[in-house]
Amino acid sequence: MHDQIEEVLISQQEIQEKVKQLGSQLKDDYRDKNPLIICVLKGALIFVSDLIRAMDCPLSLDFMAVSSYGSSTKSSGVVQILKDLETGIEGRHVIIAEDIVDTGLTLNYLRNNLLSRDPASLAICSLLDKPSRRQVKIKPDYCGFVIPDKFVVGYGLDFDQQFRNLPYIGILKPEAYI
Ligand code: IMP
Ligand code: MG
Repeated sequence: MHDQIEEVLISQQEIQEKVKQLGSQLKDDYRDKNPLIICVLKGALIFVSDLIRAMDCPLSLDFMAVSSYGSSTKSSGVVQILKDLETGIEGRHVIIAEDIVDTGLTLNYLRNNLLSRDPASLAICSLLDKPSRRQVKIKPDYCGFVIPDKFVVGYGLDFDQQFRNLPYIGILKPEAYI
């Protein structure tokens, strides 16, 4: 597994520090709002599990799954809901937690879909942001790290369903996906 990584881009320690900061900022901003955190499966799972433990305030958690890249490293632009929320979000303060914003197509679709359900507010919290590949105008309200245009894996992010369990974020060797 590790031998397919070209370079560790963000270490386990850097991730832990940043997630603690994000959690504390979210706690300050949402302390009286009982926010609903939406974990976008599967990539955001590890991030969200650390993030909510860094938020020392009342909150609830729900999950959505949307179609992503499949086995390729290119976005198709077609978004499909594979699993929807269990509860309504009308009047709730909602935070979408994502692993990465790349082209922005997935989050743009999710944002519009959730806005049509009349939440009290909607914010986006993404661990990673790859702005160089953006195709639609969307910017996370809370962001951990801005990264270059490289395909990364680990800490929840996968290639072909592998590498999610790496404790750091690494750049995958191109030969691993050619
Ligand atoms: P977008 O719709 O292009 O913004 O892509 C969003 C989804 O693509 C993310 O939630 C990830 O699942 C996946 N993705 C984008 N870039 C990467 C990457 O560098 N590594 C792993 N998955 C990625
Ligand atoms: Mg994802």
